[in-house]
Amino acid sequence: MSDSIEANRAVITTSYAAHRELWARADRYHNEFLLKPDATLDAVLQNTKDKIKDYEIAVSPALGKFLHLLLRSIGAKRVLEVGSLGGYSAIWMARALPDSDGEVVALELDELHARVIEENVKTAGLSSKVKVIVGPAYASLLAMHPSESTPKFDLVFIDADKKSNARSSTTSDTLGTPRILRTQLASREGIRALLKYIKDDAKVEATTVHTVGRRTLMAFFMRF
Ligand SMILES: C[S@@+](CC[C@H](N)C(=O)[O-])C[C@H]1O[C@@H](n2cnc3c(N)ncnc32)[C@H](O)[C@@H]1O
Repeated sequence: MSDSIEANRAVITTSYAAHRELWARADRYHNEFLLKPDATLDAVLQNTKDKIKDYEIAVSPALGKFLHLLLRSIGAKRVLEVGSLGGYSAIWMARALPDSDGEVVALELDELHARVIEENVKTAGLSSKVKVIVGPAYASLLAMHPSESTPKFDLVFIDADKKSNARSSTTSDTLGTPRILRTQLASREGIRALLKYIKDDAKVEATTVHTVGRRTLMAFFMRF
């Protein structure tokens, strides 16, 4: 099993550069038809680029819109995000939630990132819908102590702390369902631990969808 994973990894690494431009072109082509010009999101990305070195690790516009449509399709009201960077995916998701009682709770480790999220969310006119909690997500999750009366999260989007995927995924069990994890090759230890954990849990249904796009090969892993 692990041999075949390593073999796949070798193939991907060698053909990665060749395919990357093709993926980027396909992404751009589809986006021309499916994504409308959006000055607010452009300003959010520019502000993130100006202030955060790793600004490029946000979801792509197509993946942001995928999350947005998924939330609309399930009539979601509350979303938990683990790892928010500059708030780009949080903004896509917050826009899908009702104005009256929709909420994205964004858990972010880095204080600078948290400040940029607040700025960007304000630019997007969504300050009342996005709550940022600064600190390590695992500790923030444990500190939430949801009670019977706390509204459940309709979706948990885990986009950080990838080595602890299994831990984040199980800790958020009490907080809501379903969960989506964005994973990548760099986080393979976390992915392997999570897959092993799921295999032994008869209560959990999950699937992985691999995506390619302008930057990289990623996977969206979804579990109920
Ligand atoms: C891939 S980026 C998130 C991108 C964001 N979801 C988007 O698409 O716009 C990962 C973020 O997780 C944060 N992070 C890393 N480890 C964390 C942890 N243990 N708890 C909370 N946030 C963490 C990083 O500071 C970074 O801002």
